Amino acid sequence: MRVCVLGLGYIGLPTALLLADAGHEVIGVDVDKSVIERLSMGMVSNEEPMMLNLFKRTTERFHAQTEVPLADAFLICVPTPVDGELRVADLSCVKNAASMIAPQLREGNLVIVESTVPPGTMSALVIPILKKSGLESDQFFAAYCSERALPGNVLHEMVHNDRIIGGKDIQSANKAMALYSSFVKGNIHLTNMSTAEFIKVMENTYRDVNIALINEMAKIAEDNNIDIWEARELANKHPRVNYVKPGPGVGGHCIAVDPWFLTNNPGNCQLIKASRDVNDNMPNIVLGAVKTLVKDVENPTITILGVAYKANVSDARETPALKFIRLALNEGFTIRVHDPHVKRFDYLLEDLSDATFDSDCIVLITDHEAFRAINPQQLRVRNKILLDTRNFLDHEAWIKSGFDVKVLGRPEIMKGASDIEQAVAPKAKEVLEQRIST
Ligand SMILES: NC(=O)c1ccc[n+]([C@@H]2O[C@H](COP(=O)([O-])OP(=O)(O)OC[C@H]3O[C@@H](n4cnc5c(N)ncnc54)[C@H](O)[C@@H]3O)[C@@H](O)[C@H]2O)c1
Repeated sequence: MRVCVLGLGYIGLPTALLLADAGHEVIGVDVDKSVIERLSMGMVSNEEPMMLNLFKRTTERFHAQTEVPLADAFLICVPTPVDGELRVADLSCVKNAASMIAPQLREGNLVIVESTVPPGTMSALVIPILKKSGLESDQFFAAYCSERALPGNVLHEMVHNDRIIGGKDIQSANKAMALYSSFVKGNIHLTNMSTAEFIKVMENTYRDVNIALINEMAKIAEDNNIDIWEARELANKHPRVNYVKPGPGVGGHCIAVDPWFLTNNPGNCQLIKASRDVNDNMPNIVLGAVKTLVKDVENPTITILGVAYKANVSDARETPALKFIRLALNEGFTIRVHDPHVKRFDYLLEDLSDATFDSDCIVLITDHEAFRAINPQQLRVRNKILLDTRNFLDHEAWIKSGFDVKVLGRPEIMKGASDIEQAVAPKAKEVLEQRIST
């Protein structure tokens, strides 16, 4: 089959390569010329395991260009951000992609949208644009099939996750299923288009609401002098309770964005909106904790460890770190940033020693595995203060090195050992044990 994939980003490129690997002739299309140029030079992110191998293996069956060619099937994998002001889905790229396909659409072709969209988008927006081809809607096939792959493990999950396909009609659903079956090993479930569109947004909203719930619990716990990390662990001993971890907020292209796709009827979405607000407000909570920690420091310098929206990836879209940085700058704090994964960011990225030099407070925002290797003894900071928003680092080691350690959601600050005490520093565990006995 000749397949055209529009949008060669985090989702489109691996999908295109998997289709090529399954034997299809694949033409990747991107409106951004730099994407095509990078691919023509063989530049593929090495963040996804096996991606470069797959790219090399499929050079004969995959090529990239800016124009939409004739094809048997078209997949739309373009961005669908949230309109920051209106708080609704910005569907301009989807509209544009469908408009680019329309002149090339022929009878019997299949069009699949993978981009996350509000329910009803296929019927109300995409199919009417495709009909500008001159074809009636029963002359082509259309389906919605969202992606659930986790960044950092995309290729494996694209193959092994279950898929939901919503067809314009049963023939469309079956055609789409045949195409995905060429590389998907997970189960494929068929439904109608609106239900499939809705399911994708439901999934990410579920995650956002659950994160908001634990973040809210963390605030309540702290107010009541309770350690949320201990409370969460014990609550999760209940066979039907499974709290996720609290943190500094929610980022990325999906969870922080997609719930807004459901909020056009205010009467139906109070919990969803409240959850978005709770998570969007977490950088303010982090700022509050930092302000307490540096209250005696004049003109403090704050070092941010990690600005990616999640661990071990370079993606900083919608990261809560950005909001925290803006809030901290607004307080007059000096900000230094270190992230071993992120290459492009709104603020200067420095190496660890520069970013921590003369720092008054280190704030861990992202739980990158690389941060576990930091030796706190080697940091040339001015004040030894650590705020760990993810309860991630080896606090014992930091306390032994003289750092005061505050964990978001844990009421007390674990005091760093003085020079004399360092040899016999109290263990973080002992500090917690003291809490139990008081
Ligand atoms: N990244 C994820 O983890 C993830 C997971 C599930 C679903 N999704 C959804 O998949 C969709 C794509 O996300 P992404 O992260 O791959 O985006 P991305 O920003 O990484 O890539 C999208 C690409 O599409 C290109 N593009 C824009 N308009 C185009 C057009 N008209 N024709 C051709 N190319 C065009 C852009 O230049 C860009 O290179 C979004 O709707 C997103 O919500 C993403």
